Amino acid sequence: MEPQQTERLAADEAGIARAAALLRAGALVAFPTETVYGLGADARSGPAVAGIFEAKGRPQFNPLIVHVPDLAAAERIGVFGPEARALADAFWPGPVTLVVPLRPEAGLSALVTAGLGTVGLRVPQGQVAQDLLRAFRGAVAAPSANPSGRVSPTMAEHVREGLDGRIAAIVDGGPCAVGLESTIVGVAPAPVLLRPGGVAEGRIARVLGAPLAHDPGDGPGVTAPGQLASHYAPAKPLRLNAAAPAPDEAWLGFGPSLSLSPSPGDGHGGLNLSETGDLREAAANLFAHLRTLDRRPARAIAVAPVPDVGLGVAINDRLRRAAAP
Ligand code: TXA
Ligand code: MG
Repeated sequence: MEPQQTERLAADEAGIARAAALLRAGALVAFPTETVYGLGADARSGPAVAGIFEAKGRPQFNPLIVHVPDLAAAERIGVFGPEARALADAFWPGPVTLVVPLRPEAGLSALVTAGLGTVGLRVPQGQVAQDLLRAFRGAVAAPSANPSGRVSPTMAEHVREGLDGRIAAIVDGGPCAVGLESTIVGVAPAPVLLRPGGVAEGRIARVLGAPLAHDPGDGPGVTAPGQLASHYAPAKPLRLNAAAPAPDEAWLGFGPSLSLSPSPGDGHGGLNLSETGDLREAAANLFAHLRTLDRRPARAIAVAPVPDVGLGVAINDRLRRAAAP
């Protein structure tokens, strides 16, 4: 990725307006929430969201939390049953993330949800986060604003140390009040604690009137969040590092090669992750293309080799998981 000059923005009207404009332009902006600093991108833009994984150097695509200013905005993206609504009423704005069924028409990049049918939504309490979300007037995907494998930042200075030159801007809103990530609760089909965090489990159980199930194999509390058991996987077999598709395979290309010589797999409506071999574009297209090809009549999906550098590492990780029986 190209090094860039990271702007340091004050959390005043001008700084917030600049940050919102950068988000609208598809750039990455770090901003404070009451929990930790988040690395934000327009949740509807695949390339912007891919940029998050690139900037963090994250070798896996795990689903990201989507930040909105209020419950009304959240309900345009996810479906809220009685339990989710009760939790939202009790804890929003605040450090609780609710994983609810996704409305496909919400238009989020499939990379935000890692291709899943659910979405993690959060209404932050921090004033700067609220101001930014309202100025941007859209949903912001944001993991913690640290390089992969490092601790979450609770001050603008921490963000600068980790991501300077890799992101467009940092909004400096001082230290985060909570200093610990949000508690993540999955609500469908039954409430389950996916990650302990800023709101104690007991308070959540009291609102629900029942203890929460735990899901140790499926939450980010376990070592590798990318190994979420609920990760989307295509139903069709995948054949990786293929030179060309067999007649009964649909083709998932990367780079220009096959578009020059149409092949049998293209007859199954082949797709290309990126004609120009751009890894950010490929990451942005990955889940949506897998889903589309999965619906085609072909027996299997053949996938062109993707270089194992930069975002290609996460792309290949995801492809290997999707190919595993
Ligand atoms: O406090 C926080 O929550 C911070 C600040 C910036 O808001 N954000 C944060 O985001 O920690 P992030 O992207 O690092 O959290 C992602 C975790 C994933 O590892 C995953 O476990 C869970 O949220 N998650 C998100 N969407 C999910 C989904 N659809 N299904 C299951 N888990 C999901
Ligand atoms: Mg994190």
